[in-house]
Amino acid sequence: MSRPIHVLIDLSALEHNLSVVRHYAPHARVMAVIKANAYGHGLLHAAKALKNADGFAMLELDAAICLRKAGYHQPILLLEGFFSTTELVLFKQYNLSAVIHHKEQLMMLAASVECNRLDVFVKINTGMNRLGFAPEEFPSALHSLETNPAINQISLMTHLANADDLTEKASVTKQLQCFDTKTMGLKHLRSLANSAAIMQYPETHADWVRPGIMLYGASPFSDRTAAELGLKPVMTVSSKLIAIQNLEAGDKVGYRGQFQATHAMRIGIVAGGYADGYPRHALTGTPVLVNGQRTHTLGFVSMDMLAVDLSHIENAELGSPVILWGKGLPVDEVASTAGTISYELLCAMASRVESRIQGT
Ligand SMILES: Cc1ncc(COP(=O)(O)O)c(C=O)c1O
Repeated sequence: MSRPIHVLIDLSALEHNLSVVRHYAPHARVMAVIKANAYGHGLLHAAKALKNADGFAMLELDAAICLRKAGYHQPILLLEGFFSTTELVLFKQYNLSAVIHHKEQLMMLAASVECNRLDVFVKINTGMNRLGFAPEEFPSALHSLETNPAINQISLMTHLANADDLTEKASVTKQLQCFDTKTMGLKHLRSLANSAAIMQYPETHADWVRPGIMLYGASPFSDRTAAELGLKPVMTVSSKLIAIQNLEAGDKVGYRGQFQATHAMRIGIVAGGYADGYPRHALTGTPVLVNGQRTHTLGFVSMDMLAVDLSHIENAELGSPVILWGKGLPVDEVASTAGTISYELLCAMASRVESRIQGT
């Protein structure tokens, strides 16, 4: 028998979450963000559930080609664009769109004969200071693209740094104003909004929205649950108890004995550790479901196992089902207890964990 840990991917939940995006942004086209193997959910499975999206966005050229070869006809946008002129051949061959965010890309475009009819999204750095032309550089970058006969459609974009943090409304307003000022009067389509902005700032919806995390059923906000936002979890990580230990007061658990029992107690050992993608920095107290009942981790997470408290789960036994996150236990809750964000947990699920696909 193989290890009992597996990941269940509920494609109908993904489809549902896309409909939630459309509910929040009824007038915008939806560019589903499926980078990082669709946030760890599996590129082609996710794409199948998101087949009605108006476009896809990702970073990995090989994944984009794989998607095109699988028969998806929508725009596929590479969020970091291309890195060399040789890649431009593939952009042309597979009709991929590129984010253009620095001068070197403009130079590569000017030097290349391979990029006929390329669709581009010009990125303006409106305050996140990650990718994009500085506002004062943007007009000349745009001019260079508008006068390049190899360029087909030009769209304009920026990325918001703080849409998920309600105390940072002023920062969103400032970025939006900067974008509006620089793009005013231009005929090109525009795109600004990630999941948080889709739900919190309708004024940022423009022509294309770019949802990621909300499609996968997690909340971008620390003060609102995914369920409150109408989202359904797509990934559920399940496992089983593979051992049970009875501790005496003073007994320690796991590496370095990081947890020490203060009284006699029963603990369970779950097949699932950091080599499966469970965060090692999740300390004692991170929530887990055993037999559908809430309990928590004890001590350090090992590479392949973790320990849970069974004191109040009397019916727990060898083989009892465990949920590490997903249905019944929001990934956001596990992430925040572990001092991280849902994005990191979802993307880190290891390839050795078997995926089972449900729905659609
Ligand atoms: C440029 C860009 N747009 C959209 C997204 C989607 O963001 P979220 O997952 O918060 O919706 C990302 C994700 O990091 C991104 O980098």
